[in-house]
Amino acid sequence: MQTKNIGLRNIEVADTKISAVDGINGKLIYRGYDILDLVKKSTFEETACLLLNDDLPTKNVLSDFSTRLVETREIPKRLEENMESLPKTASPMDVLQSRVAELGMYDKEKGDDKNANYNRAISLISKIPIVVACWDRIRNGKEIIKPSEELNHPGNFLYMLTGIEPDTEIARIFDICLILHAEHSFNASTFAAREVVSTRAHMHAAVSAAVGALSGELHGGANYQVMKMLLDIGTEDRVEQYIKEKMSKGEKIMGMGHAVYKTFDPRAEVLRELSRRLSEKTGQPWYKITKKVEDITAEEMKKVKGSDIFPNVDLYSASAYYMLGIPMDLNTPIFAISRVSGWTAHIIEEKFAEAAPKPMLYRPKAVYVGKYCGPSGCEYLPIDKRDQQVPS
Ligand SMILES: CC(C)(COP(=O)(O)OP(=O)(O)OC[C@H]1O[C@@H](n2cnc3c(N)ncnc32)[C@H](O)[C@@H]1OP(=O)(O)O)[C@@H](O)C(=O)NCCC(=O)NCCS
Repeated sequence: MQTKNIGLRNIEVADTKISAVDGINGKLIYRGYDILDLVKKSTFEETACLLLNDDLPTKNVLSDFSTRLVETREIPKRLEENMESLPKTASPMDVLQSRVAELGMYDKEKGDDKNANYNRAISLISKIPIVVACWDRIRNGKEIIKPSEELNHPGNFLYMLTGIEPDTEIARIFDICLILHAEHSFNASTFAAREVVSTRAHMHAAVSAAVGALSGELHGGANYQVMKMLLDIGTEDRVEQYIKEKMSKGEKIMGMGHAVYKTFDPRAEVLRELSRRLSEKTGQPWYKITKKVEDITAEEMKKVKGSDIFPNVDLYSASAYYMLGIPMDLNTPIFAISRVSGWTAHIIEEKFAEAAPKPMLYRPKAVYVGKYCGPSGCEYLPIDKRDQQVPS
């Protein structure tokens, strides 16, 4: 008899060459390269190019990739106008999910071959930050800023968001944040994207689904919740009581724990240092408060459940983005700005896998535990013969 696997943990569903997550040793590898090496030596543009190809790009390949990111740095005027008519209270993730689907309607690529999908990937990587920045300007009644042709990909986003060209240190910190969020194997949103293209749907449909999956607080939405928690706590001396109270009620501490890492998430290690540097640069208290959240949660977990718990990517990215001056509810869209590189790489892999076992339509099995009235089913009663029932 097959056993149920709630949450599909440890179920192997496909091969991938894109990344490896080693949850025991706390390692994350993109196409063979250690993430800790990439954050020291690479850029987001190069990392995105690496994810979409089989190896690090040559000078020419990277230069072509970067040029095309700039060339596609625009969104259709109609799409901008449609955003103007949305309720200003709309969640940026809802706006993004629907705009990605809308971008699909303006897709100039013909067909569904590998080259067309590579071009679509570049276009989406280029346009998603523009949608996020434009929406933030529109909802705040500010003029939309035209994309720069000079700034790199992360720099252009910060510029379109704030109207100010970021200083070199800020731009590099943001660049590193994007490298760290770019890819993470079969996480919920990537799996959603792969599941959608397994039906032979197109890339925009899959990325739109991935944005939806990312929006939830157990996935990309966690860093927004982390910042809300930090603001609620307010000062270092309040951390202990806050965490103890929450955990005694069985509530989860956002930014802590991971489905795969059972040790330190290597991304959290880098972000912790970035948060520390930003706290030092801006004089804000968020690094120290976050560190205490980490320590007290780990202590309580050990005391109460006898197990270890470590920070995940969201714990320190929340305060890092806050100190970069990014509005809190853009934390998750920024995750999407980066992760679209991983999603699109997976979509291409899912669609064009060359080696066996080739992916096929995902179709897990459910165990029916509903009403059973015998082999011919329950008797269908006309509506006026049915007892009044309150739907449960
Ligand atoms: C990410 C997450 C879903 C991983 O879950 P998981 O490894 O499957 O672990 P579970 O949810 O099954 O939790 C295992 C135990 O640890 C506890 N636990 C896990 N994460 C916890 C957290 N953040 N705070 C407090 N307790 C936590 C659970 O309550 C559970 O206890 P129990 O066995 O007594 O029921 C989980 O850690 C979580 O919800 N974290 C907070 C949300 C978050 O930061 N998400 C971003 C992920 S990158």
